[in-house]
Amino acid sequence: MSIPIRKFDAVIVGAGGAGLRAAIQSSEAGLKTAVLSKVFPTRSHTVAAQGGVAASLGNSEEDHWHWHMYDTVKGSDWLGDQDAIEFMCRKANECVIELEHYGMPFDRLDNGRIYQRPFGGHMSNFGEKPVRRSCAAADRTGHAMLHAMYQRNVKVNTQFFVEWMALDIVRDAEGAVVGVTAIEMESGEIVLFHAKAVLFATGGAGRIFYSSTNAFINTGDGPGMAARAGIPLEDMEFWQFHPTGVAGAGVLITEGVRGEGGILRNDAGERFMERYAPNAKDLASRDVVSRAMVTEINEGRGCGPNKDFVLLDITHLPPETILKRLPGIREISIQFAGIDPIKEPIPVVPTCHYQMGGIPTNYLGEVVVPQGDNVGVPVSGFYAAGECACASVHGANRLGTNSLLDLLVFGKSAGTTMVEFIKNHPAAHRPLPADAGDYSLARVDRLNNQKDGADVHATRLAMQRTMQNHCGVFRFKDLLAQGVSKIMDVAADVARTEIKDKSQVFNTARLEALELENLIEVAKATIVSANARTESRGAHVRDDAPDTAERPDGRDDKNWLKHTLWHRDGNRLEYKPVILKPLSVDTIALKKRAY
Ligand code: FUM
Repeated sequence: MSIPIRKFDAVIVGAGGAGLRAAIQSSEAGLKTAVLSKVFPTRSHTVAAQGGVAASLGNSEEDHWHWHMYDTVKGSDWLGDQDAIEFMCRKANECVIELEHYGMPFDRLDNGRIYQRPFGGHMSNFGEKPVRRSCAAADRTGHAMLHAMYQRNVKVNTQFFVEWMALDIVRDAEGAVVGVTAIEMESGEIVLFHAKAVLFATGGAGRIFYSSTNAFINTGDGPGMAARAGIPLEDMEFWQFHPTGVAGAGVLITEGVRGEGGILRNDAGERFMERYAPNAKDLASRDVVSRAMVTEINEGRGCGPNKDFVLLDITHLPPETILKRLPGIREISIQFAGIDPIKEPIPVVPTCHYQMGGIPTNYLGEVVVPQGDNVGVPVSGFYAAGECACASVHGANRLGTNSLLDLLVFGKSAGTTMVEFIKNHPAAHRPLPADAGDYSLARVDRLNNQKDGADVHATRLAMQRTMQNHCGVFRFKDLLAQGVSKIMDVAADVARTEIKDKSQVFNTARLEALELENLIEVAKATIVSANARTESRGAHVRDDAPDTAERPDGRDDKNWLKHTLWHRDGNRLEYKPVILKPLSVDTIALKKRAY
C-alpha cells in the first residue's frame, strides 16, 4: 500500500515543555523542524505543572547548584546518574533565565527578582534546612512556561502538526532512526515523516494507573513506540505517587501549598509528618510523605466516613497569600472537593503522578542502548527528553519542580545534540527502507478488521485496576507476582482489541485502541521490573525488603545499585551500572536517606 511521505530535517514528537524547548534549538539553527502533537501545544500536560521550576538562583536566601545536586542524588535514593544530575543542576539557572527572556511571567519579589518557594527535599547546605529554590508563576508555572515557549517557536518558524498521533519509529537496516509514521486524527490519514533525526518528548504514561494526576493524553506513546522498535525501557519500576491528589478526583494539588506553609493532618488533627520526617516535616521528599499518608490511613487515622484520606490544611494562612500565590488551587478545591481552602482543609490522597524511568538516554539527550560490553551506545538519529526519557536524573524518586527543570535542560541539550548531528554528520542523510510504514499500516489494519475481539475500554480498565492494586505506593511480593500474570493476560487482550460499534466509530475510538497498545508496553515494563527488584529504594517499597541494620530502609546497594533495562522481546531484563562519578565534583557518597 502506498503512503504519503513528508520530509523534514528534524521531527519532534510531543509539544510539551521538552518538545517545545528542543524545537527552539532546532528551528533557531535553521533546520526544517516539524513538531507532532496530539493536542494544541499549550494544552500539553506540562500545562498542569503547578508549583515551580527548580534552580539555585538564591533570590531569597543563599543557594548553590552543588546543594541542589546533593538533594537530587539523595532524593533519587542514589539511583540517579551523578554526571547527568550535575549537568542538570549546573544548567538550571541559565535555562530559567533564558525562559524569562522568552517572556515567561514569573512572580516577582519586591526587588524585581524571580519569586522562589520551598519544595519537598530541596535543602540548603547539603541537607540542613528547607531552601526557597522553586521559581514560580503563582500555581500555574507549567501553563505560563508552555505559552512562553510556544510563542518563541512561532517566532522561529517551527511547523506544528496539531492533532497528529505518532504511530511507530522507522529504523533502517543498520538500526538508525530515519523517521516516524503518524496518523492525522481528524482524517485518519497515515503519513510517513522522513527525517534526518527524530526526537521524542511524548511525556508520561500515568494513565497505566486507575488514579492519576495525568491528563488522558499521557499514554506512554514514546516508550510504547520505542519498545516496539526494539529499544529497552529503563527503571520503569519507579513511579512517583504525588502526596496530594484531591481525594476521589485525582486532580493535583501542588506541593507548593506545603511550600507556602500548608500542613498535612490526620483525623485527630495531628501534624503527623513530624513523626516521619522530624527535620523536613511536610516538605520531606514525595515518596516519604506518600508512604506516611498511606500508613496513617491504613492504621485507621484517615479522615471522612471511610477514613480513606487525610487533610491538607491552609486555613491558618492569610487569605491574601492563598489568593495571590495559590489561586488555581482554590479553584480546584472548590470545583473538585466542594470546599473553599480559605475556610476548610482539602481532602487529599497520594495519586500516581510521574514516571521516573523511560527511554534510556545520556545527558546529551542521545538514546543509548547496550551493545556487547558497552551499555551506552547511541542509536543513530534518535533523541529523547522530558518525562518519556530516563537521563537518569530522578533515579528512584524525583524531587518536586525538578520535572520542569528536566524538560528545560534536557529539551535544550537533546535539541542541541540533534542539531549538531544533522548539520555535521554524514550519517544524518539516510534513505527510508523499502518497507517503511508497513508495520503501522498492518497495526491499523488489524484493528479495523478485528472480529470477536476485546473491548478497548474494558481492557484498559483491567490494566489500570491491576496496576493500581498490584503495583501501588506499597508493594507486596505475592501481589506483584500475581500482577505480572494478570498484566500478561491483559496484554493478550490488547493484541485483539476491537472497535465494537463500527456504526458509531469516530477516529477517537481507534486512537484510544492505539494508545492502549502503548500503555500496555509501559505497564508490562513496570510490573515485570518491579517484580524482579527485590529491594526497597525510593518510590519502590516492598514488604519483603524491610528496614534492617544491614539494609537501611530496605535498600540493597550490594545487589541492586543498578539500572533495570526491560526488553519487550520476551520480557527480558538486563541491568547496567549507576553512574556514580559526577562531571567535575566528588561523588555524593551513599548513605541512609533521612529528612
Ligand atoms: O506539586 C507540584 O506542583 C508538582 C510539581 C512537580 O511535579 O514537579
